[in-house]
Amino acid sequence: NASGAPRHFLDLDGFDTATLRHILDLGLAYKQGKGPKAPLAGKMLAMIFEKPSTRTRVSFEVGMKQLGGDVIMLAAGDTQLGRGETIADTARVLSRFVDAVMIRTNLPEKLTELAKYADVPVINGLTDQSHPCQVMADVMTFEEHRGSLKGKVVAWVGDGNNVAASWIHAAGHFGCEIRLACPDSLMPSRAAVDWARAKGASVVLTTHPAEAVAGAHLVLTDTWVSMGCQDSNRHELLEPYQVNEALMAKAAPDALFMHCLPAHRGEEVTDPVMDGIQSVVWDEAENRMHVQKGILTWCLA
Ligand code: CP
Ligand code: NVA
Repeated sequence: NASGAPRHFLDLDGFDTATLRHILDLGLAYKQGKGPKAPLAGKMLAMIFEKPSTRTRVSFEVGMKQLGGDVIMLAAGDTQLGRGETIADTARVLSRFVDAVMIRTNLPEKLTELAKYADVPVINGLTDQSHPCQVMADVMTFEEHRGSLKGKVVAWVGDGNNVAASWIHAAGHFGCEIRLACPDSLMPSRAAVDWARAKGASVVLTTHPAEAVAGAHLVLTDTWVSMGCQDSNRHELLEPYQVNEALMAKAAPDALFMHCLPAHRGEEVTDPVMDGIQSVVWDEAENRMHVQKGILTWCLA
């Protein structure tokens, strides 16, 4: 762009709401077949995965190709990153070959290091602390089914993890209340909560799922054991946080259920909720691709 600085897509708290609105609208236009045709012809996206992925990988690859571009997949273990080449040097080199880099990694510092040294846009494909592309898809999905989030109540139940942090950022942008029910030891990012509150959002933290879900318009949960999580012994702690029919019954009658997936059926969510009429998890997964086409276009076109 004109300033010469690449347009990174790192975290939702780094954006102004108008830019996120523009990206969401663009994503929806693509979904409706109304977006620009092949705006990324000749553009190449490199994708670095230091953790597994199904949706993120496939949605970026298909989305990029639908926009006229192409992708290169880099499994971190197969590159020199896996043998200790620095992120900074990797960023400098990749910038000479490709037009954008998406990275999924553990430490957020690796993402910011990549963005600092890359001359091309860097996209956050998930870190231990956030998952902004996912939450953009979630917002798009809510809006498609129920309209604006403004004044709505969003309940997050379970681990106060990376996806929860990006949802707290979304609450700061889109004017919904967010209530998170998590065990004391798994409360969400303090920085995200403080940021959203400073933006005027109501952020409620509780240890009681019923309190968070009461009258909510959207109920969200996620795995009890995220990728790279050292402590896989959380099942007893999180059992009271299962999203089942009894808990959903406490939400608003037309409440939606979302889960970023992959789901662990019978753990954080039961089959009747995953497969029930309130669940929009497949639309949510599909929208990853549409909204990412908006993100890619904003970064690159
Ligand atoms: N929701 C999500 O990011 O899924 P993947 O791990 O399959 O990419
Ligand atoms: N919280 C999960 C999200 C997976 C898409 C994880 O980090 O593993």
